[in-house]
Amino acid sequence: MKLLVCGGAGFIGSNFVRLRLASSDDSILVLDKLTYAGRRESLRDLEENSRFEFRHGAIEDPDAVARAIDGTDAVVNFAAETHVDRSIAEPDAFVRTHALGTYVLLEAARERGVRYLQVSTDEVYGSIAEGSFSEASPLEPSSPYSATKAGADLLVAAYHRTFDLETMICRGSNNYGPYQYPEKLIPLMVLNALHSDRLPVYGDGLNVRNWLYVEDFGAGIGYVLEHGIPGETYNVGGPDECDNLTVVRRIIELCGADPELIEFVTDRPGHDRRYSLGSEKVAALGWRAQTRFEDGIERTVNWYRDNAWWWEPIRSGVYREYYERQYGTALS
Ligand code: NAD
Ligand code: DAU
Repeated sequence: MKLLVCGGAGFIGSNFVRLRLASSDDSILVLDKLTYAGRRESLRDLEENSRFEFRHGAIEDPDAVARAIDGTDAVVNFAAETHVDRSIAEPDAFVRTHALGTYVLLEAARERGVRYLQVSTDEVYGSIAEGSFSEASPLEPSSPYSATKAGADLLVAAYHRTFDLETMICRGSNNYGPYQYPEKLIPLMVLNALHSDRLPVYGDGLNVRNWLYVEDFGAGIGYVLEHGIPGETYNVGGPDECDNLTVVRRIIELCGADPELIEFVTDRPGHDRRYSLGSEKVAALGWRAQTRFEDGIERTVNWYRDNAWWWEPIRSGVYREYYERQYGTALS
């Protein structure tokens, strides 16, 4: 296949592109706006690959999208604003990228009859106290991030029903692994632990997330792209659930850091207590998560320890200003 991968310079997108180039004959064009979270460096090892091309552009720009989509067999859309805390502070870009950007991509796909896969999130379902969400669970998003992602999902579903466009939606649980921007829980805690900076845990630290190694999500998206039924949604959930405090304590052990670095800070407004995804539908296509959390977290910590070339420019740049605004304290 010839794939257009939007948002392919981000965390999950770059891992997906690497996986597909290694495991298929696909050729891939990445279209990415290069926001603070989009990093050309995350694709550095792929630049010489003749089946890979990068193009700078936004999904809400119809001209950039028209030029990129011509001649492709399928679009996989990762492009998004992805941090819940930023969506609380400044929702504007979330509305523009998720609503307008998804619309522009869908229109371009419809005009050309190109298959469309939307990468979405378990956060559209809201929080669940017991059991797991299925694809039929109601959408009850809590944050501007998840509400705009849910809106994008509904638009995708409408383009299937109304225009018969071949669409699929993949909803993943919390991803972790290499190349994740350090605003998110795991890379933030790893880099802070390695630098002996404070480890800011929101609320009581007992919120539960359903951790999915990033390569497992990429593989799940591949199964849906190749074997999914148009019009359908597929949950792709991780094999393990864990509360935040347990995650942070394991990171402290792996980094050899001081447990006294943990600092309980003001909770996130509208903070979802627990996520849990049932993945039976994608399992029926043949997918299984390969990486348990105990292995994946060790690999992830080792990757950050060995790849300072990737995170040092981030940690010494605008991320420091963001961190001070968000946490009211400076990084070392
Ligand atoms: P990320 O923030 O690391 O990367 C997002 C990428 O999209 C960046 O490269 C950015 O430059 C690009 N982008 C943003 N706005 C754009 C626009 N308007 N036009 C073109 N490119 C744009 O995000 P991620 O964690 O890799 O998430 C990728 C997708 O997966 C998102 O849709 C997210 O909602 C979804 N998702 C994420 C997780 C998770 O745990 N991180 C879990 C489930 C689903
Ligand atoms: O569930 C999938 C979602 O996972 C994705 O759709 C989002 O794009 C992704 O950001 C992630 O959302 P979360 O809000 O769950 O991830 P985050 O890493 O921001 O937070 C994970 C948990 O850790 C959450 O309970 C809040 C807590 N937390 C987070 C940060 C950044 C802290 O306690 N301290 C922190 O400093």
